[in-house]
Amino acid sequence: MTGVKIDGIEVAKSIKVKVAEIVNDLKSKGISPCLATVLVGDNPASATYVRNKHKACEEVGILTKDHTPPTDITQDELNKLIEKLNADETVHGILVQLPLPSHLNEFNTTTQILPEKDVDGLTPPNVGLLSIGKAMLVACTPSGIIEMCKYYNIELEGKNVVIINRSNLVGKPLYHLLLQNNATVTTCHSKTKDLKKICLDSDIIITGVGNREIFKLTPDMIKEGAVVIDVATTRHEGKLAGDADYAEIIEKTSYASPVPGGVGPMTVAMLLKNTVTAAAISKGIDI
Ligand code: GUN
Repeated sequence: MTGVKIDGIEVAKSIKVKVAEIVNDLKSKGISPCLATVLVGDNPASATYVRNKHKACEEVGILTKDHTPPTDITQDELNKLIEKLNADETVHGILVQLPLPSHLNEFNTTTQILPEKDVDGLTPPNVGLLSIGKAMLVACTPSGIIEMCKYYNIELEGKNVVIINRSNLVGKPLYHLLLQNNATVTTCHSKTKDLKKICLDSDIIITGVGNREIFKLTPDMIKEGAVVIDVATTRHEGKLAGDADYAEIIEKTSYASPVPGGVGPMTVAMLLKNTVTAAAISKGIDI
């Protein structure tokens, strides 16, 4: 079997069209959605991600405010910057690009963000609401994966889904979204025993390890006709790569997402969606 490519660029485009319509509608009501980004230091990969986020905002008419404090900013100074953005009524969404330099604490930083401006869905109120199925703003990568499945009519109900990632930004929120879609979900990590057997028992494999020295998803781990969604972005042999070699695994799957051009564009598209949702929430508008 040769599977269908899950084209994240195409799905992201369809989301952007809808977001642009909502932006126009909000503008007609006097609201100009605005995302503030905070990029600490000079990590080149993070700088590229943030640049892509700004470009995408511009495409759909979302305003941006760019903050690039130096690597040696203190926790207090960073918290003060977030306080300022919380109080700024022209800012609807706040994104602090992760990872942060090691002297800064991610939890202490992200929990400063007002939940209604938390477009990453990382604050405790948003995490709690998601866990009881009442989410307001959900982490972008997991909600992007659900949108990809909807776009390609990939059934989740009753399916065995394995997630190979347990991070706060991906694995944990994705677990809740899949459960809400009536999937049977297994979350795996570095201490999981017999990962290959769990993968072979799965209808859908969502993998996000991002280190080829530790892990590679190979065809012998995939049940014939399963779906593979590759969330990882790493460098392998000088190129951007996921946990799997797309050309190798597509032969075994019914659907698979490539890297690049898979989940990455969806993370950005869902950030745009969260920003307009946050802008609407700020004025008590239902979208
Ligand atoms: N770093 C990698 N992915 C993300 C993301 O979705 N949000 C933030 N804030 N940082 C990231």
